[in-house]
Amino acid sequence: PKKNFRLLMNLRRTRQNKIIRRKKMVNIAVLGYGTVGSGVVEVLRTNQESINKRAGQEINLKYVLDLRDFPGDPVEKVLVHDYDTILNDDDVKIVVEVMGGVNPAYQFVKNALLKGKSVCTSNKELVAKHGAELLEIAKANKINFLFEASVGGGIPIIRPLNQSLTADEIVEISGILNGTTNYILTKMSKEGLPFDTVLKEAQELGYAERNPEADVEGYDACRKIAILSSLACGHQVDFEDIYTEGITKITDVDFKYASKLDVSIKLIGSSRKVGNGFAAMVAPKMISNDHPLAGVNGVMNAIFVKGNVLGDVMFYGAGAGKLPTASAVVSDVVDAVKHMGTNIMTIWSTHKADLVDIKNVVTRFFIRVKGDDDADVAAVKAAFNGEIVRADGVTGEFGCVTAPMTEKEYADKAAGFDGIISMIRYEG
Ligand code: HSE
Repeated sequence: PKKNFRLLMNLRRTRQNKIIRRKKMVNIAVLGYGTVGSGVVEVLRTNQESINKRAGQEINLKYVLDLRDFPGDPVEKVLVHDYDTILNDDDVKIVVEVMGGVNPAYQFVKNALLKGKSVCTSNKELVAKHGAELLEIAKANKINFLFEASVGGGIPIIRPLNQSLTADEIVEISGILNGTTNYILTKMSKEGLPFDTVLKEAQELGYAERNPEADVEGYDACRKIAILSSLACGHQVDFEDIYTEGITKITDVDFKYASKLDVSIKLIGSSRKVGNGFAAMVAPKMISNDHPLAGVNGVMNAIFVKGNVLGDVMFYGAGAGKLPTASAVVSDVVDAVKHMGTNIMTIWSTHKADLVDIKNVVTRFFIRVKGDDDADVAAVKAAFNGEIVRADGVTGEFGCVTAPMTEKEYADKAAGFDGIISMIRYEG
């Protein structure tokens, strides 16, 4: 019986060894150990077990690339300073690019894809500029280029657009696409805080871009609506062609008028089908408090999508910040592991989409005009066929919501008035 017992134990051990040997593992490398990169490492560590289960194999962080050293941080064990170490290691199957900026990210990502490594990125500048080309390379190499985190932080929007809303022609995408500016506008509106104070807070919370101009001048939202528009129409929408206005001219007085008009002021990135083309724009807008985007506050983002058969859907959630963004990046890593050897088809050709000239887009405008006498008011009302609005405690000026007109008509009329203080597009 002793001998039989030993034989049985040996058999069990051999079986266990085989099971252990059969357990698959995929090596990944993370490029950049900044806000998002350190978030990715944290997410992988915190949810290791469930992530591995969902991916169907163990995800092993083999390298983290950064120019800096991080003494005392456990990341030191896998830290490298030379990208070639990662590129030339055939065991690395997935590269996570979270460095930001176009250079050197573009070369790093392109070379990784050409070497047959899938890439997951949060880099909206890179995706907006080179997304179509990088997708083509991934397709040719039966690997994947995934970029869920590039729009809306932790909100799933790229995968739904690409894989769920496929029965529809998308006729509109409008969104609050930048957490920093939404945080600023919300604090200005609800707490009456000045712009600079709130921007500083957003920077401290890790929401803002290294150069906050990218947020407050609307450039970040512009990249994001360019990506969404390209996916919606399947062609390249160049961000340089999208009319973009930021929030730096919005003041506390604008919020007084907004309150009177029962509207919210939000930085909206939008893309609407007009005829066979798309009219895309980023600008602060006054939107009705009944609109689903009006209730999106703080760092939250939301993307409102209208399909020709579906009607309206809205995706809402944490739009910026270390862990929400990292969560989206790691979900791409899981997807890349699950689709090893297969390309997930994404339609985004390098051919340029037809964009409608903004001059022909029709909207209403809210204007603030200097002066207070009856003749001034009557002249503005007549010229813009508008409705006059006065805000509590605001003197020496008045507001007017114009009739619907094209951007060109508005610009021509506005050129005839010296007293216009400011203008915000109005979709009340
Ligand atoms: N600066 C960006 C924002 C980060 O505020 O939304 C997320 O892309």
